[in-house]
Amino acid sequence: MKVLVIGGGGREHALVWKLKQSELVDKVYCAPGNAGTSQIAENVNVSEKDIRGLIDFAKNNEVGLTVVGPELPLVMGIVDEFEKEGLKIFGPNKECAKFEGSKALTKKFLEKYKIPTAKYKQVEDYEEGLLNLEDFGFPVVIKADGLAQGKGVIICENIDMAKNALKEIMVDKVFGESGDVVVIEEFLTGEEASVLCFVDGNNIYPMESARDYKPAFDNDEGLNTGGMGNYSPNRLFDEKLNNKVRQKILNPIMEGFKSEGLDYKGVLFIGLMIENGEPKVLEFNVRFGDPETQSIMLRLDSDLANIMLNTADGMLAEEDIRWTKRHSACVVMVSGGYPESYEKGKEIFGLNDVDSNVIVFHAGTKTEDGKIVTDGGRVLGVCAVGDSLEEARETVYENIKKISFEGAYYRNDIAR
Ligand code: AMP
Ligand code: GLY
Repeated sequence: MKVLVIGGGGREHALVWKLKQSELVDKVYCAPGNAGTSQIAENVNVSEKDIRGLIDFAKNNEVGLTVVGPELPLVMGIVDEFEKEGLKIFGPNKECAKFEGSKALTKKFLEKYKIPTAKYKQVEDYEEGLLNLEDFGFPVVIKADGLAQGKGVIICENIDMAKNALKEIMVDKVFGESGDVVVIEEFLTGEEASVLCFVDGNNIYPMESARDYKPAFDNDEGLNTGGMGNYSPNRLFDEKLNNKVRQKILNPIMEGFKSEGLDYKGVLFIGLMIENGEPKVLEFNVRFGDPETQSIMLRLDSDLANIMLNTADGMLAEEDIRWTKRHSACVVMVSGGYPESYEKGKEIFGLNDVDSNVIVFHAGTKTEDGKIVTDGGRVLGVCAVGDSLEEARETVYENIKKISFEGAYYRNDIAR
C-alpha cells in the first residue's frame, strides 16, 4: 500500500518514519515534507491547504491511506472531501474537528458531560468580557475561540493585562474572526500532561502519556511555543492516575461523542492539568501533538499503518496497540528568536555525527544546493530511547552538542 502523510514538521517526520516500518506499506509520500522526510519518503510539492490538489495526487498515485498531520486541513474538512471521493483517510471529519476550531465548543461539551475542567465563561463582545472579568481572580486565562497558531491563549496577571488581552482579541482582532468569541477561564495550577488517544468511533484508546514543555526557556520562562521538548511516559502517570483518566475523562468523552451523534475517528489529543493526582482537561486537539508524536512513536511496538486502517474502519482493538516499557526523550533545537522572529537558511552541521541510537527528526529544514538548511522556528527534534528516563535524556544531551547551526538554541532542562 502507498501512504500519503500531509504536513511538513517533526510530527510528520516521526509518522513517516514509523509508517515506513509497516509490512503493509511499500511507499510513503509526504506533502510538503522537509529535508528529513525526503531521505526516507518522497516529498510532494502540494500545500496542506490544497485539498483538491491532495485528492488529485492520492488518486493519480493510487494512495491507499492518507494521514493528516496538522489541524488546518482537518478543520477545513479534508476528511469529508477525501471520503466523498472514496479515498481512505486517517483523521476526524469536519464536524468532529470543530473541537480544535472552537475552544468554546470544547468547554460546552466538557461541561455537558461533567468532565473535569476549569470554570469558564464564554463572551461574545468586549463589553461583555469586561463585565465577566469580575467573576474571576488573577491570574485569569483569556482565550480566542478559534485557531490562532498556538498564540490565542493569554495568561493575565492583573486587570490591565486582562483588559488589554480582551481588547486585542475582540476589538483590534489580532487573530481575525478567531477572536469573535472569547473564553475567559479560571487559571489552573499543577503539572501538564498530554494524552493522545486513538478513537475509532466506538472506543477510545489512550497512547502512552507524554510531558510537553511549552515555554521557550529553561525553568519554564519566556513565551509559549509549540513545544520545546518532550518525554514519555509522563512521570505522573501510574495505575491510579491512568484509571482516573479512564473513568473521569475518557469514558465520558466517548459517551458524549456517541450521544451527540459524532463519529469521531482519528487522534484526540487531550491536554491535561494535574494537581494532587486530579486531572482536568485544558484543551482538545484533533490531531497528533508535536513534539509528543516524536517521543511516542519511538515507544510504539505495533504497526502504525494497521492501527490507522483499523481506526478509519471503526474496528480498532486493544491488542493492536503495544508499547515498549522503555523511556523516550526529545529535545527540540530551534532558530534563535523563536517563537518571535528568526532567520532561516542557516546550514546545519553534524547531523551524521550522532550515535546510532539517536534519531533526529527534522521539522523546519530543507535541502538547498545539496546542503540541509534551517527553514522554520522549530528545526530538529533530537530523540533517544533508554531503559530509564535519565538514560534517554543523557543520550539526547550528549548528542545534541554534535549538531550546530548559526543561532541554534535548545532548553537544557527537558526531562530533568
Ligand atoms: P490551550 O491551547 O488551551 O491548551 O492553552 C495553551 C497553554 O496555555 C496550555 O498548554 C497551558 O500551558 C496554558 N493554559 C491554558 N488554559 C489554562 C488554564 N485554565 N490554567 C492554566 N494554564 C492554562
Ligand atoms: N505540543 C503541543 C501541540 O502539539 O499542540
